[in-house]
Amino acid sequence: MLRQRPQSGVCLVLSILSNVCALDGIWTPDWNALKRQVQGRLYTTTPFSQPCFDNYASSDCQDLLQEYSTGDARTNYPSAYIQTQWESCQSTSEQCLLDPTNPGSNNGQCLMGSIPPRYIDVRQPNDIIATFKFSEKTNIPLVVKNTGHDYLGRSSAPGSLALWTHNLKNISYDAAFEPKGCTKPPMPAITVGAGIQWFETYEFAENHNITVVGGSDRTVGVVGWLLGGGHGMLSPTMGLGVDRALQLKVVTPDGHYRVVNECQDPDLFFALRGGGGTFGVVVEATMMVSPPVALQTVILQFSPNTTLSRELWGILVDNGLQWSKDGWGGVSIANVAVFINPILRKEAAASSAAPLIEFGQRLKAEGASGVSLTVVEFPSWYKFFQPFAKQFAAKTGASFALASRLIDKSSFSGQNQRSGLVEGLLAADKATPGVIIHITPPSSAPSTNKTSVTEAWQDSLYHVTLISSWAWNTTKAEKAQKYKDASSSIDHLRRLTPDAAYFNEADVYEPNFQKAFWGMHYPQLERIKRKYDPQQLLDCWHCVNWNRKSPRFRCYL
Ligand SMILES: Cc1cc2nc3c(=O)[nH]c(=O)nc-3n(C[C@H](O)[C@H](O)[C@H](O)COP(=O)(O)OP(=O)(O)OC[C@H]3O[C@@H](n4cnc5c(N)ncnc54)[C@H](O)[C@@H]3O)c2cc1C
Ligand SMILES: *[C@@H]1O[C@H](CO)[C@@H](O)[C@H](O)[C@H]1NC(C)=O
Ligand SMILES: *[C@@H]1O[C@H](CO)[C@@H](O)[C@H](O)[C@H]1NC(C)=O
Ligand SMILES: *[C@@H]1O[C@H](CO)[C@@H](O)[C@H](O)[C@H]1NC(C)=O
Ligand SMILES: *[C@@H]1O[C@H](CO)[C@@H](O)[C@H](O)[C@H]1NC(C)=O
Ligand SMILES: *[C@@H]1O[C@H](CO)[C@@H](O)[C@H](O)[C@H]1NC(C)=O
Repeated sequence: MLRQRPQSGVCLVLSILSNVCALDGIWTPDWNALKRQVQGRLYTTTPFSQPCFDNYASSDCQDLLQEYSTGDARTNYPSAYIQTQWESCQSTSEQCLLDPTNPGSNNGQCLMGSIPPRYIDVRQPNDIIATFKFSEKTNIPLVVKNTGHDYLGRSSAPGSLALWTHNLKNISYDAAFEPKGCTKPPMPAITVGAGIQWFETYEFAENHNITVVGGSDRTVGVVGWLLGGGHGMLSPTMGLGVDRALQLKVVTPDGHYRVVNECQDPDLFFALRGGGGTFGVVVEATMMVSPPVALQTVILQFSPNTTLSRELWGILVDNGLQWSKDGWGGVSIANVAVFINPILRKEAAASSAAPLIEFGQRLKAEGASGVSLTVVEFPSWYKFFQPFAKQFAAKTGASFALASRLIDKSSFSGQNQRSGLVEGLLAADKATPGVIIHITPPSSAPSTNKTSVTEAWQDSLYHVTLISSWAWNTTKAEKAQKYKDASSSIDHLRRLTPDAAYFNEADVYEPNFQKAFWGMHYPQLERIKRKYDPQQLLDCWHCVNWNRKSPRFRCYL
């Protein structure tokens, strides 16, 4: 963005002011100046798997192999990502990946791929302000990276500078929180720094005898989850993350550190409640909390068997509307169903869930293979979540394409719609096995009408995802095919439902994504984006106002 080239004498002065200087006629960013501004916390990046390329026999490499596929190790490491394709440059096949199934194999060279070559370990708002100024002067693309869970590769980019928010680990509880500048009755709330993850939040909530509505994976970051919408198994009755947001502290690309809520910068607050991480860098988030809840749960499993899957999903879909009214949330794959209920007592829950419980009992009586049926009360979300997370850990350290759909209530309204939906789910699962039905939309929670996620969330009963995977060394053409496979598998459900999908868990090539993610809110989000980020310093794949031509996207296929 430089319009004039200073002489070398001027250069010294300018480097202090602007981080940029001419060296041998080439504009070079002044990294040292930036480093001083962030108190030394600017670092160059090493790929996660580098130790094994340096020396396979080293203890560093052996340690790495132990934790290659764990969410904890990856989310603690600045340049590691949960889906490994976002460490690689898919368009050039440059990468530094191991074969997790055969770690001794030769993996070629260790290359940076789309890993940001430098990152700042963010500790205070000033770090972000300095980085925005630097990016504006140098045109070096920025990414915000917390845990690296993003399914659309929004937290990496080749040649970029990463703001690593991992160490913003403050967490606190306020029994009488008042949003700044508002005159509203105080309410209990939790405030988390941008580095806080779910496992920490749930433990904190348990220790403080409160319920926080959150996601189903231990290591996902709370703030990234929240900015895109944020669903969890308590959301059907208690709302999405964005419904429960009370205040965000954020540095906007214009260099201001703002306290944003319904009373201060309400337009920005609306945008951050579902518009994604492209409006500013959030430093901390305050969310409402609820009193402790006992959970009634029904958990049924059996050995994979297509006939039984059809029957299971038939029961789920036939009872979908009623179970939403009764307050059930949960998750199901073809041979597992997990249902939880925070509002019914034990007997009422057993009677509401009778069709599922009786199905499980029948399977047991018939001696069907691998059947396990548990009907039990957990005293709190945390007590439920601990064993759940252990048993249903997500795939980590692998490459795959995701695709998803929100399934609206009217798909459950008549017998034809219901059987169409069951066949659509089975067809999707047959095309790419691993369909997950998340019974997490806020179907019976009161609407706030103050969030920017697509209005379809409120009218949906299911959020359905599937994945199409590939090996570490798959060719570029095969990867492109895998993305197409995921997309065409979800077409079985696209055909049946309105144009709506979850921004944080979407097909990388979602057609008509503006409508799908934000529905009627998109035009307003565009205006707010231009207001707070006129220079487009923050940009990401399929984000509001994104610039597809930006070099930051050159690794996408
Ligand atoms: C295994 C797994 C399970 C999941 N389960 C759920 C679930 O149960 N419910 C659900 O709703 N979602 C779920 N997700 C999706 C999850 O919400 C998204 O992946 C989300 O982007 C994760 O945010 P992060 O900060 O952890 O990831 P990152 O990859 O570090 O960040 C993702 C993006 O979020 C934005 N962002 C993060 N922090 C900030 C910040 N401080 N300021 C501005 N922007 C920021 C940035 O755009 C960044 O690029 C899951 C994902 C995975 C991989
Ligand atoms: C974290 O909490 C400490 C102690 O309350 C406070 O001094 C500090 O400013 C907080 N940090 C951030 C980034 O909010
Ligand atoms: C937890 O909170 C509930 C209601 O909010 C209260 O009834 C209960 O006594 C509390 N338990 C503890 C251990 O503080
Ligand atoms: C699937 O389950 C049914 C009912 O228990 C059983 O009759 C059938 O043999 C099973 N099929 C397979 C392939 O195991
Ligand atoms: C939310 O908006 C919808 C559609 O505009 C409207 O029908 C509904 O009454 C609103 N709800 C609230 C609580 O404002
Ligand atoms: C990928 O690696 C496996 C061994 O891990 C090998 O069998 C296969 O041929 C390789 N595929 C390609 C496309 O190189």
